[in-house]
Amino acid sequence: MSSLAKCCPIACRIWNSTIGRKYLVALTGVVLTLFLLGHLVGNLVIYLGRESFNDYAEFLHSMLHGGGVWIARVVLLTCLVVHVAATISLTRQNRAARQNYECQATIQAKKSSLIMIWSGLTILAFVIFHILHFTVRVSYPAEKFVDPLHKQLTGEERFDAWGMVVAGFSNPLTVVFYIIAMSLLCSHLSHGVQAMFQTLGLRSRKTAGFLDKLSVGYAALIWIGFVSIPVSILVFGFGK
Ligand code: HEM
Repeated sequence: MSSLAKCCPIACRIWNSTIGRKYLVALTGVVLTLFLLGHLVGNLVIYLGRESFNDYAEFLHSMLHGGGVWIARVVLLTCLVVHVAATISLTRQNRAARQNYECQATIQAKKSSLIMIWSGLTILAFVIFHILHFTVRVSYPAEKFVDPLHKQLTGEERFDAWGMVVAGFSNPLTVVFYIIAMSLLCSHLSHGVQAMFQTLGLRSRKTAGFLDKLSVGYAALIWIGFVSIPVSILVFGFGK
């Protein structure tokens, strides 16, 4: 018996059943989908100006004495790892099952699961880039990005997250990369939210039409909100 099976037999039983892994993909998908909405609402504070956005960034880092952001990171990372691992495992299993049974319906299913897996892996690459860009801040040293008004008013130095985002999205290559990544993210999201309702047993003949529209509408809202920021900065000169 593996050590995981010994210390956590329930987790092992869930992982070893196909429906268990499907539920894990759906439930972690719910958390990641809600994170996107929260992150979008927070990012839209940028339109309220430098001080509001920097207050918001400062709040994120200071809530629960600095522990809040770490709790969120651990939860998100766990959800991301479980979501990706369970999806890859289910895709492999489906592929093996289909090897001797190829018909039009399975070719179609194979295509959409391939699209989901490739858009998912691109999103993963984007998230790694994004964390290096705005969380690790490889190109934005704290000494160069100091909130000027805050220093003037309080005498204290704090990081100018607003200035960093404006500087980041003043580069056309970065903006194109973000728009491509967010388009893939939203295509993944609209399929993923539909599949999530299906797995959680909420999709019936009656609700299918409504839930499909809701998934597409949600993905479109997330896309418009996120894309509006780099476009406002680069194309309309917001923040300059
Ligand atoms: C216009 C689009 C976006 C902007 C302006 C933006 C902005 C930011 C900023 C400023 C941070 C750093 C927060 C801090 O540490 O103070 C951050 C972190 C993060 N963002 Fe975004 N973001 C955008 C899109 C996205 C998207 C589409 C995703 C998900 C696919 C995402 C996922 C994350 C994650 C996981 C973190 C790391 C949180 C952490 O560990 O600190 N972001 N974002």
